[in-house]
Amino acid sequence: MSSQSVQSKSAIGRRALLHSGLALGAGTLGTALVSNGPVFAEDDSERLSKGDVAILRFLAAAEILETDLWQQYNELGGIQDGEVPGGTGSPPYLNALAQLDADMPQYIHDNTEDEISHFTFINAYLMSKGAEPVNLDRFRTLPSSKATGAQQIGRLTNLMQLTVDTTWYTRYRSRTKNPDFGDTFPPAIPGLSQGQFPAIPRNDGDLNSPNHIQAIANTAGFHFAFIEQGGNSLYPALAQRVSSREVLRILLSIGPTETAHFQTWHDKAGNFKPLTDPTNGLVFPDLNAAPLGGEDFQTNLFMPEPTIFLNRKFPVCSVIRPTETKGAAMGAAKGLTEDGLFIGQSREFFDTVTRLAQQADEAEPNQRDH
Ligand SMILES: [Fe+2]
Repeated sequence: MSSQSVQSKSAIGRRALLHSGLALGAGTLGTALVSNGPVFAEDDSERLSKGDVAILRFLAAAEILETDLWQQYNELGGIQDGEVPGGTGSPPYLNALAQLDADMPQYIHDNTEDEISHFTFINAYLMSKGAEPVNLDRFRTLPSSKATGAQQIGRLTNLMQLTVDTTWYTRYRSRTKNPDFGDTFPPAIPGLSQGQFPAIPRNDGDLNSPNHIQAIANTAGFHFAFIEQGGNSLYPALAQRVSSREVLRILLSIGPTETAHFQTWHDKAGNFKPLTDPTNGLVFPDLNAAPLGGEDFQTNLFMPEPTIFLNRKFPVCSVIRPTETKGAAMGAAKGLTEDGLFIGQSREFFDTVTRLAQQADEAEPNQRDH
């Protein structure tokens, strides 16, 4: 536990600890205190249901993992300041990111700061309810980029061997399909799903070829949107199974900030420069030219198209997709794993993330502790 969380925990005091089976390391006292939990807890001193704790703990873990990857992007391609400290920037990488938008460093910084605030808030909220916060510090074992500008510290995530799924691009442009109906979508950049590619320079050798560092920045641009569309689905998917009105408020208030991020990144990704990476053959095709183009590919059509929702009998609707709640947490964990973010992580790490996801997916409204 970090010194910050030790401090917050001691500040919560005896009342919260008395309400907490988890904090006491035994469930017996807790059971006596919450045997008649309300449908929606209005009193903010009420203890959370087991399901709400599991959902919040998975979200805290997801936000910690997101923070770790955004921190790596910010060190090399963002703005390093008091809000998001660490690193000194990589001018060739910054220059390549500027192809997507001149303000990319500001956006990367702000997305990073948001993720820091998300996990910090959720963990503090869990502790205020006497529940155990999430700490993944023991898994900060992966190497940093060796490129000038990155800190040399242990990481939770790996941004140097990504297999980026870009089907979000066509999924949000489809007017007839929805993943919640079992539909699948073609990737915008097929090459990114057929290998392992860096989204940050791995070392200063990655800075020599202009088209190589531009391909790395393009990869990052599409990865930013991939990550944030995940959060954009995860919050509404899990919100459907919370018990407390206040926990629902938390999920409904954080979730749309992920959507704000996704919308921004969807727009910026469309500004990429079509090219072929001379070092590995990765192709970024021109999405505006035949045989591509049209509503499914045209780069300035980045707002969600209305599509089928709930039942085909209804008119199409512009919605977040997917939002199916069943298996949503495991789906998110699987998506991040397939992305390559955890390449090099320990068995214990995967077990821990899987357990957190399974517990969140087992959560049902009004499930009590026992
Ligand atoms: Fe977040």
